Amino acid sequence: MRVVIAGGHGKIALLLEHLLAGRGDQAVGLVRNPAHVADVQKAGAEAVVCDLEAASADDVAVLLSGADAVVFAAGAGAGSGAPRKDSVDRGASVLMADAAGRAGVRRFVQISSMGAGQPPRPGTDEVWAAYIAAKTAAEDDLRARDLDWTILRPGGLTDAPATGRIRLAAPPVPRGTIPRADVAAVIAALIDDPGTRHQTLELTGGDSPVAAAVRSIS
Ligand SMILES: NC(=O)c1ccc[n+]([C@@H]2O[C@H](COP(=O)([O-])OP(=O)(O)OC[C@H]3O[C@@H](n4cnc5c(N)ncnc54)[C@H](OP(=O)(O)O)[C@@H]3O)[C@@H](O)[C@H]2O)c1
Repeated sequence: MRVVIAGGHGKIALLLEHLLAGRGDQAVGLVRNPAHVADVQKAGAEAVVCDLEAASADDVAVLLSGADAVVFAAGAGAGSGAPRKDSVDRGASVLMADAAGRAGVRRFVQISSMGAGQPPRPGTDEVWAAYIAAKTAAEDDLRARDLDWTILRPGGLTDAPATGRIRLAAPPVPRGTIPRADVAAVIAALIDDPGTRHQTLELTGGDSPVAAAVRSIS
């Protein structure tokens, strides 16, 4: 399976590339910084330089030619302001979905966030509100498309080692944290399971092994 990952040098993306390469899949990481190419290759993936705030949908569609699935793992990241929440967390997801449609790649897994899908609480910090608004708009855009999408909303991300044990269900799942390594394992399982299409799922640490949790909702 050929899987193109937007935001290919992200922390989850690198872990996912490593997992996909390990099971014999072909991962392609889209990165905006040429200095990140070597790290992506080291994770076992092909790296392609593509700035998702500058590329057109046609540019990206060419990169998706022959792919079986797209994973949206990009994000403006901590330290960025409201405009980049919109241009990356919303805009780059819309761009990838447009490109997937043009390239005929139906499977699309989007990393969103817990908190998306509802208005931010009153008094919320302006940048966090912009982040949640961007994630919500990206989800709404994807749900309206004729793609085999799955929206994954992880809780707070940590860099702890994988536990292999998760809680994965339709919202609302109680707030919690999840190691990025477990998120990567869940995405690898979701890509493989088309029965999870057209679902919005929340994810935290829990008791269920990853494969069993994904099977139970597919
Ligand atoms: N932090 C949390 O607790 C939390 C919780 C739930 C969900 N999430 C979401 O989970 C996702 C992945 O998280 P993560 O920790 O793996 O993210 P990350 O390490 O911050 O990775 C995001 C990647 O997106 C890339 N990116 C940014 N702008 C780009 C552009 N214009 N073109 C191409 N790539 C671009 C970044 O590249 P550069 O290095 O070049 O900037 C970076 O490699 C994000 O969408 C995040 O919002 C986070």
